[in-house]
Amino acid sequence: METICRTKVKDVLKRTDYGSIVNVRGWVRTHRSSKAVDFIALNDGSTIHNVQIVVDPSKFDENMLKQITTGACVTATGELVESQGSGQSVEIQCHELEIYGTCGSDYPMQKKGQSFEYMRQHAHMRLRTNTFGAVMRIRHNMAMAIHTYFHEHGFFYFHSPIITASDCEGAGNMFQVTTKNLYDLKKGDDGKIVYDDDFFGEQTSLTVSGQLEGELGATALGAIYTFGPTFRAENSNTPRHLAEFWMIEPEVAFIDQQELMDLEEDFIKYCVKWALDNCKDDLEFLNKMIDKTLLQRLEGVLKETFVRLPYTEGINILQEAMKNGKKFEFPCNWGDDLASEHERYLVEEHFKKPVIMTDYPREFKSFYMKQNEPTTDGGSIGYKGAVAPGPTMQGTDVLFPQIGEIIGGSVREESYDKLMSEVERRKMDTTHLWWYMDTRRFGTCPHGGFGLGFERLILFVTGMQNIRDVIPFPRTPNNAEF
Ligand code: 4AD
Ligand code: MG
Repeated sequence: METICRTKVKDVLKRTDYGSIVNVRGWVRTHRSSKAVDFIALNDGSTIHNVQIVVDPSKFDENMLKQITTGACVTATGELVESQGSGQSVEIQCHELEIYGTCGSDYPMQKKGQSFEYMRQHAHMRLRTNTFGAVMRIRHNMAMAIHTYFHEHGFFYFHSPIITASDCEGAGNMFQVTTKNLYDLKKGDDGKIVYDDDFFGEQTSLTVSGQLEGELGATALGAIYTFGPTFRAENSNTPRHLAEFWMIEPEVAFIDQQELMDLEEDFIKYCVKWALDNCKDDLEFLNKMIDKTLLQRLEGVLKETFVRLPYTEGINILQEAMKNGKKFEFPCNWGDDLASEHERYLVEEHFKKPVIMTDYPREFKSFYMKQNEPTTDGGSIGYKGAVAPGPTMQGTDVLFPQIGEIIGGSVREESYDKLMSEVERRKMDTTHLWWYMDTRRFGTCPHGGFGLGFERLILFVTGMQNIRDVIPFPRTPNNAEF
């Protein structure tokens, strides 16, 4: 028989040219025998759906057929026919069947309904399951949505470095990069490690954010975005934190707080709509198997106008709730950083829609944020004239149902003097900031941007509960396997 080009399962399922000879290749989901006919459900990762291969066992070697077990990889050629059974449109009447790779009974993904924890321990094989296939295809689609959105809106894809000598967030939770001999560290007279003999001649780390370099890009090209891996050595063992995650960081010149919030909202809605438009089969599968309210929640976000809420007002709402009997584990007085329970109360119970929180107290926000106008009594004036009892900064974080903080953003302080006084107030080491400060010395301009945690977006769009299950190979404390 002539060689036939392979067709992807996704494409074969759409065909109606019954009688044609087609070839499909993939991994066996199930193989069952019934009334002298064998049915093989084959999946090749191109879609959540399987194609059914109908085999007449009298025409094939019995021993070969026995080896076609769940997980085995086969190539099958046969005639495309209209499906007899319900649930699929076409099936393949098999003429030729060959095994690429058999799969032993110790195949870890053999049983259905394994726990996610079990699958994490077998992350090298979990990609072959329906759920992880769906999540990974959606992940790909979200990356395409993001690039398309920014490309269409005139943003340039800008590559910030992975290895850096500066700590953007100033939180000090960076992974060091070194080629030094760790058994014989060169130290100065003061006992501190000297880095002049290290690869870069100074102490370097993996980036926690590309924002500072992104600002250099935006104040030259007008609007840029980064999209790359980000590393944080924070020991947070939560379902929302990874030590290695992907972040999208747009940065825009001449944008104010209102416009920045408009951008955040428009961008997220675009991504969610993209998922609904392009990942229908996978979303329907997840809606059925993982989270019955997923589709409703995604459609809901598109309809809602996000609430824009100054932090100070948020605190008032939380305190009011406490007066009415609501219990929180962590305190929430003015000046406290909000815990996830507070964010989720505001989003899921109080407003029941996404919230963009603005004008945070400067004490727990980063040095680069634009400082709000002070009042004479030590307070400050923020978004739409909202008065706060202390100094605030023009943050614009987006809080989402189920997720909490999905975006962290702000307008940046463009005044050299104000920025410098904040750097000094925080007693920051300015050795590695000179180039950043130069943006404020040479043609400074109003600008702002934000960072979207890619995996948090994927969590929202897939309805998955744990961030370890929306990235192929998660990196978390005590776990760098695979
Ligand atoms: O709020 P963050 O720390 O903001 C920044 O890094 C800014 N420099 C961004 C900017 O303005 N350009 O982080 C931004 C987002 C968070 O809202 C969250 O979605 C995600 O990154 N994120 C994490 N995602 C997974 N694991 C972690 N450990 C994360 N830390 C932050
Ligand atoms: Mg943040």
